[in-house]
Amino acid sequence: MKVLGIETSCDETGICLIETRESDKGLILTILGNQLYSQVAKHVEYGGVMPTLAKREHQKNLVPLFLKCLEEAGLAFPSSSEEGWHSDDGVVRAVEKVLDREPELLTDFVKILPTLKRPDIDAIAVTNGPGLEPALWVGVNFAKALSALWNIPIIPTNHMEGHVVVASLDRIDKNQFWIKQTHYPAIALLISGGHTQLVLAKDEMDYEIVGNTRDDAVGEAFDKVARMMGLPYPGGVQIYNYSEEFKKKAATNPNFKFPRPMIHSKDLDFSFSGLKTSVLYTIKEIPNLTEEIKQEIAFEFQNAAIDVLVSKTKKAIEQHDAKTLIVGGGVIANPDIRKALEKLSKEIEVHFLLPEISAATDNALMIAMAGFLNLKSGAKTTLDFKANGNLSL
Ligand code: KG4
Ligand code: ZN
Repeated sequence: MKVLGIETSCDETGICLIETRESDKGLILTILGNQLYSQVAKHVEYGGVMPTLAKREHQKNLVPLFLKCLEEAGLAFPSSSEEGWHSDDGVVRAVEKVLDREPELLTDFVKILPTLKRPDIDAIAVTNGPGLEPALWVGVNFAKALSALWNIPIIPTNHMEGHVVVASLDRIDKNQFWIKQTHYPAIALLISGGHTQLVLAKDEMDYEIVGNTRDDAVGEAFDKVARMMGLPYPGGVQIYNYSEEFKKKAATNPNFKFPRPMIHSKDLDFSFSGLKTSVLYTIKEIPNLTEEIKQEIAFEFQNAAIDVLVSKTKKAIEQHDAKTLIVGGGVIANPDIRKALEKLSKEIEVHFLLPEISAATDNALMIAMAGFLNLKSGAKTTLDFKANGNLSL
């Protein structure tokens, strides 16, 4: 089965075409084409993601990325005269209607896509939430326009489910992966710029959120602390790099001590705003914030965040008797956080599903994969859905 994934929930524009097949040893996923355009550089000057800018960038990039993805997959062929645009005015009107609010995307779409032969794609999986609504809509409407042009069914896909499922890819070679079986029940720790959640997966595609942040997401706290120290967006990787510099000095005892909010609370919720504020007060007291002090702060801040994440994840696994720990979201790109959670999984002897770093931050592979798995478990395709910024698992 061939599934096209489309991701536009935040500041990455992603298009990915996968093919899946069953073998006697399990499911194999092959990446036929995978294109990702990061808008990060465009948002840097604003110190965070600007929704209107993200929307414009997605509009500009979707058609070129889609075309590149088809070329990579060897599926870009010119259409014959009977196909595409001229054959049916109803199709033209349907596409124009769907892309009414994305005029730039419509212009590109009309110019290029009707010149192509309908690619052999069985379904389109598109992120319909959670995320920035204006950004989400661009992907959703692009999917609906493709569907109108080529009559391809759509499976609306939850971005967070993408972060969960992509952890079970087990690389065979450059483009092929096993989809590993998950032992249920499983606990998924999802940590990104917008989310910090502990999710109980009772079975395939059956989720319950058992822990959540009460204020800032952990990625948001990384980004904000970085900004307080004058480091550019996105701050997660900056904090990690500064912390590494501190470690290089063989230093282990920073002069600062930040709180580990809610680490002893019985529930599975998180709070990162107190930690962030504590860093802010510390910084305010320091007249000359040298690079050395920044490294020390980054190290202690990261340790505080890791302690809380590990402790709550452990609690969740114990409370729900989980057999597997799944981790996902952009923050899991952080090597120290990866190591700490891997260590936990060994200590308490649970299976551990960790995505490759390139698949941890937002991408369309995870969306195509989640769409495929949902179709496989019987979910229905539909054209009647909206972008929903607050969509929950
Ligand atoms: O999942 P993601 O790509 O986008 C959202 O859905 O939010 O996550 C982005 C977040 C940002 O807050 C970014 O600072 C953080 O992931 N991040 C990191 C690292 N790389 C990205 N945080 C800590 N350490 C990293 N190495
Ligand atoms: Zn994400």
